[in-house]
Formats: sequence, C-alpha cells, structure tokens
Amino acid sequence: MRTKYCGKIVPTDINKIITICGWVKKTRILKNIIFIDIRDTTGIIQVIFNKQYINNFSLALKLRNDFCIQVNGLVTLKKQKSLFKNCISVNLMEIVAFKLFIFNKTLPIPLDYGKKNKEDIRFKFRYLDLRRDIMFNNIKIRSKINRLIRKFFIHNKFIEVETPILTKSTPEGASDYLVNSRLYPGKYYALPQSPQLFKQLLMISGIDRYYQIAKCFRDEDLRSDRQPEFTQIDIEVAFTKTNYLQILINDLIKKLWLSIKNIQIKKIKTISYYDSIFMYGTDKPDLRNSIKFIELNHLFKDKHTIFFPWLLNSNINRIISINIPNGTKKISDSQIKIYKKLLKKINIHKFMYIKIINVEKKITNNHNIFNNNIDQNILSKIISNTTTCNGDILFIVAEESNLANKALSALRIKIGIDLKITDFNNICPVWIIDFPLFKKDKNNNLKSMHHPFTAPKDANINIISKNPLKILSSAFDLVINGYEIGGGSQRIYNFKIQTEIFNILKISKIQQKEKFDFFINALKYGAPPHSGLALGLDRLTMLLTDSNTITDVIAFPKTTSATCLMTGAPC
Ligand code: AMO
Repeated sequence: MRTKYCGKIVPTDINKIITICGWVKKTRILKNIIFIDIRDTTGIIQVIFNKQYINNFSLALKLRNDFCIQVNGLVTLKKQKSLFKNCISVNLMEIVAFKLFIFNKTLPIPLDYGKKNKEDIRFKFRYLDLRRDIMFNNIKIRSKINRLIRKFFIHNKFIEVETPILTKSTPEGASDYLVNSRLYPGKYYALPQSPQLFKQLLMISGIDRYYQIAKCFRDEDLRSDRQPEFTQIDIEVAFTKTNYLQILINDLIKKLWLSIKNIQIKKIKTISYYDSIFMYGTDKPDLRNSIKFIELNHLFKDKHTIFFPWLLNSNINRIISINIPNGTKKISDSQIKIYKKLLKKINIHKFMYIKIINVEKKITNNHNIFNNNIDQNILSKIISNTTTCNGDILFIVAEESNLANKALSALRIKIGIDLKITDFNNICPVWIIDFPLFKKDKNNNLKSMHHPFTAPKDANINIISKNPLKILSSAFDLVINGYEIGGGSQRIYNFKIQTEIFNILKISKIQQKEKFDFFINALKYGAPPHSGLALGLDRLTMLLTDSNTITDVIAFPKTTSATCLMTGAPC
C-alpha cells in the first residue's frame, strides 16, 4: 500500500514518486492549495494538494484531522518561504500530491490531542489516546526497553523460560485473581502474583540462569504505581550470592538509563533498611531530596511524656525533626497551613516548627502546636544538637514511631517538592538491604516482610523461632527516586527450614500440604542454593519516560478501581 514511511523520506527521495499512508494531523487551506500534515508510525510529512496536479481536488477539500488516507505524489524540496507562515515545518521536504485515497473518515475525536484530557475519556478511547505523540512515544520507548533487556540477559547467558498463567496461588501479599475451571466445577486456577515458585523449580531443574518478561496479577488496592495486571523482569540464578545479582542489575540499570535517556549513572548506593527508616522514615527513600531526619529522642530522655503527653500510651516513640535551610524566608505562613493539613490527614494533630533567629544567642521563634510548651532549655539543646543556621526552620514531630516516620516522611517529600530541594533532573537509585524477615500485620500476626521463600540471614532455625522479629532477611529492594522498582533475595533451599518458616507464619500443616506440597517435595530433590529478583517493568518504564503514572506506559491499563473502561471488563 505504501512505498515509503512519512518519517523515513530522505533527500535522495527528491524527485521520486512515492506512496504514503497515515492519518491527517493538520489541515490548512489557502486559496487553491491545501496543506496537510500526515502522520504514521515513523513521523510526519507535509503534503501539498494543488489543483494543478491533482484531479480529485474536491476530495482533498473534504479531508479532516484523523482521516486515514493514502497519498501518491512527488517528493520535493520545500520552498524556503512557504506561502503560509504556519506551514514551515522542520522537515525540509514535502510531497506534491497526485492521487488521494481516503481509507476511512472519522467521527469527531473525543480527545483533544494538544491538551490534558480527563482520564476516563482517555481510558475509554485508549486507541485514540495512544495516537497522542507523548503516549505513542512511551509505547515505543517501552518496546525499546524490552529489546534492551532481552539483549542484556541473552548476553549474560540467561535462558528465557515462560511459566504458566493458569496456576496455583503464589503468596506475594495480595489476593489472587481466580479463573473458573470448566472441567472441574467449583475448582479454580489462580493467576500468578509472580512466577516465584516456578522460577525456583527451574533452578532445581538445572536451568541455572533464568529470566522472563512475565505478566503478574494481583488483586490489591491500586494507586499511580500499581496495576492489577503488570509486568516483571523476573530472574533467578543458581549457585550465587545476592551480591552478584546487585552487580548484574546495577549494570542493567546503568545501560538502560544510558541508552534511553543518555544519562550516566555513576554510583548505586546501598543502605540498610534500619538506616533508611532512621534517616527518611521509609524504606523507599527518594534520595533526590537531601533532607534527612534528625533524631531528638535523646534530648528528652525519659521526660518525653512531660513534653508530649499523648505519647504516654505508646511503647516505641520517636521525636524527630527536619531542618529546612533558609526556611524562614522560603516557607510562608500559608504554606505552613498546608503542611498542617497534610499532617492532619495522617492523623497528626500536633506538631511544632521552630524558626531559628539567632543560633549563637539561642533565639528562636517557636510555634508550638503541642499542649505543653517546650522550655528554652530544651530548645537550646535542640539548636546545639542540630546543624541549624540562622534563618532555618525545624519541623518537629513526636509520635508513636511508625506514625512519626510516616508524617515526617510525607512532610519531607512535600517540602522537597515545594522548595525545589528535590532535584527532578537527577536519578538516584539505592539498594535497601538487611530487611527484617518478618513483620506484624494489623492483627498482630507474623507476616513475611517479602515472601515466605526468602532466606533468613542467619539460617539457624532455632534462633529464628525464638525471636522471629529480630531476624534479618537476605532480601534487597531496588528503589529509584522514591519508587520500589524491584525486590529479591537469597532463597531457602532446605525443605526443613522452609517448613519451619511456614510454621512460624502459622500456616497450618493442612494448608502447607494443600498449597505447597509440590514445592516442599521439589526441595528434597537436590535443590541448589539460588537467589533471584524481579524488577517492575512498568515502574521502570514510567521513570525512563518521565511519566507520573504507570498507566501512561501501559497500552491498555485498568482504572484505579480495576476496570477497563474501553472493553467494560470485568463483566
Ligand atoms: P515484589 O512483590 O516485590 O517481588 O515485586 C517485584 C516488583 O514488581 C513491581 N510490582 C508492581 N508493579 C505494578 N503494579 C503492581 N501491582 C506491582 N506489584 C509489584 C514492583 C516490585 O518491586 N517474586 C518476588 C520477586 C523475587 O523475590 O524474586 C516479587 O514479586 O516494582
């Protein structure tokens, strides 16, 4: 149907007759000449319909944006001064049309390609939303990323293996999507939350180095970086330590940023889970923001409940602050009101900020929203224990540990953005290591911090059962600019330890048999030591395309309420 793509016309094509296909992107009519921009997958070219050269000029007059057409004509060099000012295109060539064929007209387009459109319209008419340059570009970049990933793993001698979609539940912390079995009424397949167990089984098979660009399905609350159906770059390697995986993935991440964004990432840091919580209040710190927490607990010693009486009923408290350089000038009172509202949403009704007027004389202007006033003595100590300078503002939160972390972390992010402390041109990957193996859920039950197949750092099972919450795991997460991009670990490869972990998690013997018998059995057939990890391809692509949400890098995403507005699924 075509002899050339719009974006691939080159100077050697001048004076040649070619045929192109695509969509009308722009039309301008000037007396007896019509200027059309035609777009296809490769780019845009200007076509001129001149009555002199085309016999069905009246058809050209009917052209509107988004008509799907075919044009046959002569490639010419653009005249330097176009008759019509707006027609000057970056492209130096244009086509003088001889023949026009309209494949399809269009209904009025429900989207404005140049403006921000409502998400529901974009999702409903996704096929049109994908015509927008930015979306089209995202899809192309995603394809390039996929190519680079495959090339990388092939080069590193990995074997690509596809694992089943219709399977049995794999615990990753979310609910399963279930598929009815026609042959076995009342029985269901679960869609995989990840290929976790299969990739471990492949290690037992001797595959040694596995990778897959794998579809995963999780029924959980959605947000801008979560979809019910998403893609992982999944890997598993036998006879190796986690260090090898980190080095490998560092290499991949550096290559991706260099190829896609021409950015050289120099160093990928590693910090422990506890340090991350201590300094940033989260295990997903955005290190483009230089603000760190300042611990003030020790200044209050056992007197903290005198100053912060609401802490009386909680066991583990945290009194922390962040110092904002030059905050007195940069943060207005109305901004402080916004911060108060932000903290209120997190259930923090009392917080304090101190404007540092004169460090030497320990003069401050403290705004105490607490019930009790903090005396000058404490304030002086705070100033001496922090690196505040004149003109800074210290924000202080005193709460039960988790809440204090959550609150100050949210404030750190907000102030980082508001005051342009967060450098959005930067890229800051960091490995978070030494996670606890278990955490407690809302009902005070033990849960795996990652998944139950993660090996503890100390494999002594007696110690693990004695004090499970104290045990560190071999897990590691990759965080980039505040997003959890990937996670992995060394795996348990001893069936006794695996069973013991299930016991600690209070998975009953019956459930163990029902759910994991096949896996526990497999571990008994010469299972090798192995480790692995999975990177979220959607999140990675979101960062590599500077998108704000993963739905902008998924061709056909679901809404935050897990529906597809285009097809009407689920139905
Ligand atoms: P995890 O559950 O941490 O680990 O998932 C790995 C990565 O997958 C991405 N991700 C998601 N992306 C979009 N939407 C979601 N709902 C979603 N859930 C997770 C994240 C995350 O870091 N089997 C283990 C990996 C392993 O141990 O090898 C696993 O799935 O970027």
